[in-house]
Amino acid sequence: MSLLELAGVRREVRLPDGSVLPILTGVDLSVDHGDHVAVVGRSGSGKSTLLNILGLLDAPTGGDYLLDGEPTDRLRARRRSRLRGEVFGFVFQQFNLLPRRTALENVAAPLLYSSGRAYLTRTRAAREMLERVGLGARAEQVPERLSGGEQQRVAIARALVRRPQVVLADEPTGALDVETGARVMDLLTEVTRETGAALVTITHDLSVAALAGRRFRLDGGHLSPLPAGSALAAATSARSGGTA
Ligand SMILES: Nc1ncnc2c1ncn2[C@@H]1O[C@H](COP(=O)(O)OP(=O)(O)O)[C@@H](O)[C@H]1O
Ligand SMILES: [Mg+2]
Repeated sequence: MSLLELAGVRREVRLPDGSVLPILTGVDLSVDHGDHVAVVGRSGSGKSTLLNILGLLDAPTGGDYLLDGEPTDRLRARRRSRLRGEVFGFVFQQFNLLPRRTALENVAAPLLYSSGRAYLTRTRAAREMLERVGLGARAEQVPERLSGGEQQRVAIARALVRRPQVVLADEPTGALDVETGARVMDLLTEVTRETGAALVTITHDLSVAALAGRRFRLDGGHLSPLPAGSALAAATSARSGGTA
């Protein structure tokens, strides 16, 4: 049994004029512990909707989503939000850091609601994670004093500090230049591998998708496997030139 299992998942929204907009029409996907899955698709194809459903931020309007074998449509609100915080770590395109908090405080923020953790333990865990992403020396800086790549590394540390089983990354390199983006992806791949977390990366960048063990395209509301075709091969070889 897979950790995450989507079967025939649909998501539609009712628009103000009463019509129904289908966003996802039948998504099948399973994600196992330690998997790295990439989903590519053009803007508006439903990638964020899919990721939000996986992370229990949104719910399907049809089909089944099983989390560790448990149907998610039966979860009570309280357990749903607890699972969201315990199972998942999120990384967004726009980093979503708290602007007036230091890097360290941003990373420690998800630990605030963990049960029984003393302030010192929390700070120590956050500091270790910041050091792991290479930002130990910048711990006291607020986000605006950090570069885009550094801010995304803070966001990665924040996503991982609770040792989630799954990291969900929505266009994590979308606001970064190509080289910085490649370094951020290398880091994300490395740290999730170390912690054994599964990684689901949403991207429109084939060179980012090429890093994943399994790749899919979201189009017409459903996923299809993305073959290691010429575009992907080209993106992969272009990438191997310029990254360190
Ligand atoms: N709550 C909503 N109400 C109306 N339209 C929505 C809603 N959520 C998403 N959409 C529309 O569904 C489509 C897919 O959105 P999204 O999942 O954000 O796509 P992507 O992340 O691939 O760009 C877009 O056209 C978006 O405008
Ligand atoms: Mg999106």
